[in-house]
Amino acid sequence: MRSLLPILFLYIVFASTAYAIQLPFGLTPKQGDDDLVSSPSSARYPSGFTLRQVFHHGTDEFPKLHRRLEVPAEFHLVAQDQSSTFQLSSVSHKATRMSDRHPDTIETYLEKVRTREIVAQDFDWVHEIIPTPNITDRDTLVTLAKMTADAYVGLPDNSNWLDVGVPYNRSSDFGWDATGLRGHVFADQTNKTVVMAIKGTSAALFDSDGDTAPSDKVNDNLLFSCCCSRVSYMWKTVCDCYDSTYTCKQDCVEDAMYAEDMYYRAALDMYRNTSSLYPQATIWLTGHSLGGAIAALLGRTYAIPTVTFEAPPEKLAAKRLHLPFPPIPEEENMIWHIGNTADPIYMGICNGPSSICWMGGYAMETQCHSSLECVYDTVTDKKWRVSSTNHRIRNVVEMIASYNNTPTCVANEECQDCFDWAYI
Ligand SMILES: *[C@@H]1O[C@H](CO)[C@@H](O)[C@H](O)[C@H]1NC(C)=O
Ligand SMILES: *[C@@H]1O[C@H](CO)[C@@H](O)[C@H](O)[C@H]1NC(C)=O
Ligand SMILES: *[C@@H]1O[C@H](CO)[C@@H](O)[C@H](O)[C@H]1NC(C)=O
Ligand SMILES: *[C@@H]1O[C@H](CO)[C@@H](O)[C@H](O)[C@H]1NC(C)=O
Repeated sequence: MRSLLPILFLYIVFASTAYAIQLPFGLTPKQGDDDLVSSPSSARYPSGFTLRQVFHHGTDEFPKLHRRLEVPAEFHLVAQDQSSTFQLSSVSHKATRMSDRHPDTIETYLEKVRTREIVAQDFDWVHEIIPTPNITDRDTLVTLAKMTADAYVGLPDNSNWLDVGVPYNRSSDFGWDATGLRGHVFADQTNKTVVMAIKGTSAALFDSDGDTAPSDKVNDNLLFSCCCSRVSYMWKTVCDCYDSTYTCKQDCVEDAMYAEDMYYRAALDMYRNTSSLYPQATIWLTGHSLGGAIAALLGRTYAIPTVTFEAPPEKLAAKRLHLPFPPIPEEENMIWHIGNTADPIYMGICNGPSSICWMGGYAMETQCHSSLECVYDTVTDKKWRVSSTNHRIRNVVEMIASYNNTPTCVANEECQDCFDWAYI
């Protein structure tokens, strides 16, 4: 029997692992904070979240480009007048994560596992009580979905961008914002909780009527296909790992995942910069579609609470990147994949010759999300027909708002990706 993927992780839980209990929000009562401590969790952010920074990381054309825009305070005030600050409710959640989550440690781990210096990593897991978004709160989901949409971006003048990676060569900057990954960083008034919403700069997969950028397609075809988008002999592949009929070279597909121009790589840099701007903060991630899948991969890398919307199934990518899968019951995971049954991309059924994905050259073959799926059954409840229209973030914001309750989140442990492929 051939196995789907080699199991390269060896989890050893140290029974004596330090049991570090962290107060929700790390709240140390100080002047002005007292009212926050005694109020219920759902009211912990009296002033809501405002947009503070925007990161832009280049991908295919400018993989070293990394810039930050400081959003001026006047902008927050304007936003507040239009009542577009973002309200979120949080709950305490039991988390199991690596004791050392410093970016240097994590990136060293990723590098060693990639170069096969190590094939297994015994993480020192710690158990902590941390705040996560309240997934059972409809308005919190609506708010997070809105943060991933770009309705709020009436961003100030572009000239204020600062280079945070290598200096950017202005003379070649034509069209620099056509591709890349953006992280919109929101913080509450005290800077204790920060939300980073991740999105591709071109319209995320099928989210607009326009075309998606070529780099989005390359990323999609690498992350969500069984073997470099080698769907049939007529398909152009994104990496050269196909061996023979339904046989694929495992090391080869794994290496392709770390290419410098990949969105995952860019997301790691954005996280490093965000966490250094807010070293004391609890960070949450969110994102829609490809941005959601990247948020989930980043969230798993660092064990960060993550809420995605209509993200294509990313478990295969997480396994190929050898990201940490803590030994916990599935329901303790902190990655929630929100979606609806009428969205073929989220459901992992946008494949086969008659699908819009196939016709567009997208090899969306995976079917399994890592962690939890929270599915709105719009096909049954609203008689929606399966269509990529139901993937769009604006429709999704309305859809979530139209329900009184939020769906139950479950792990689909039976799910298997690419079962007809052999990996050698
Ligand atoms: C989470 O949201 C639900 C639904 O709005 C609410 O009933 C519950 O009290 C919230 N939990 C906390 C801890 O605020
Ligand atoms: C900047 O870009 C221009 C045009 O692409 C090129 O001629 C020049 O050598 C570049 N300068 C540096 C320092 O890379
Ligand atoms: C929060 O962070 C911003 C930078 O985004 C800083 O200007 C501000 O002073 C901080 N506020 C508090 C209360 O720490
Ligand atoms: C921000 O990201 C760049 C890579 O794009 C990295 O070189 C730099 O060290 C990061 N800055 C901080 C403060 O983490």
